[in-house]
Amino acid sequence: MLVNSKELLLDAKKNGYAISHFNINNLEWTKYILEAMQELGQPVILGVSEGAKKYMGGFYTVSSMVNGLLHDLKITIPVVLHLDHGTSFSSCKEAIDAGFTSVMIDASSYPFGENVRITREVVEYAHPLGVSVEAELGHIGGSEDNITSSSTNATLEESIEFVRLTGVDSFAPALGSVHGLYRGTANLDFDTMKKIHENVDVPLVLHGASGIEEEKIRRAISCGISKINVNTEFQIAWHNDVLKFVKEHPDAYDPRLVIASGSIAIKNAVKEKCALFSKEAK
Ligand code: 13P
Repeated sequence: MLVNSKELLLDAKKNGYAISHFNINNLEWTKYILEAMQELGQPVILGVSEGAKKYMGGFYTVSSMVNGLLHDLKITIPVVLHLDHGTSFSSCKEAIDAGFTSVMIDASSYPFGENVRITREVVEYAHPLGVSVEAELGHIGGSEDNITSSSTNATLEESIEFVRLTGVDSFAPALGSVHGLYRGTANLDFDTMKKIHENVDVPLVLHGASGIEEEKIRRAISCGISKINVNTEFQIAWHNDVLKFVKEHPDAYDPRLVIASGSIAIKNAVKEKCALFSKEAK
């Protein structure tokens, strides 16, 4: 069942755990994640970056594919179809019009006032249609969709003001995490995270969770993180197994065999992350 993320994230915030946001890259990826989550009986947010959308064909293709899989695989858990880092109002509108139930508007590269204006515009379009909205403040740097940028942390004062002015449903303040691989270890600003959590009503989102030590993930959840985004770690887990398969079976030319050789790696990674994000992990 496709739902928006609002109630799921509010429940996570209230009960001190995090909902999993896993990025999808193709049909197989989506299928493996849905199958693993259905086995666990937990809700999932399927994140689609603009790059992944382009790769798969477009928002309608992604939306139809996800709806098809929910039907054919008899998926009964709540599933959120979410645009990850939408860069403009028109991109968010396009996703919503194609059936996405949640969008992230990422206007974090603009000055504060412009970020507020664009985010507000997306909220005004999304909310009457029952679509939830996430937004970013400061800037979460690193590497995503082959685009590299540097980070700027959000402040407590600006975070409170941003949430109040925009009316977003969830909020991703940049607090030291980066997309892609870390050089060294993640340096998260837990103090500000906790203060933002105590001063805003909406659930907080941690981007760039790949490579963050388990201890820090648990601490982030205890400081108010209710949604955790993972992409790169799954790609690496998949790649390792596919590489092994190709080396062992150099004559395997059926793409189904090659792609599926990474399926167990993705499913195991899904289960490991869910165990870490759950209430019981504290
Ligand atoms: P990683 O690729 O670092 O896990 O980040 C994913 C993410 O934050 C998607 O928005």
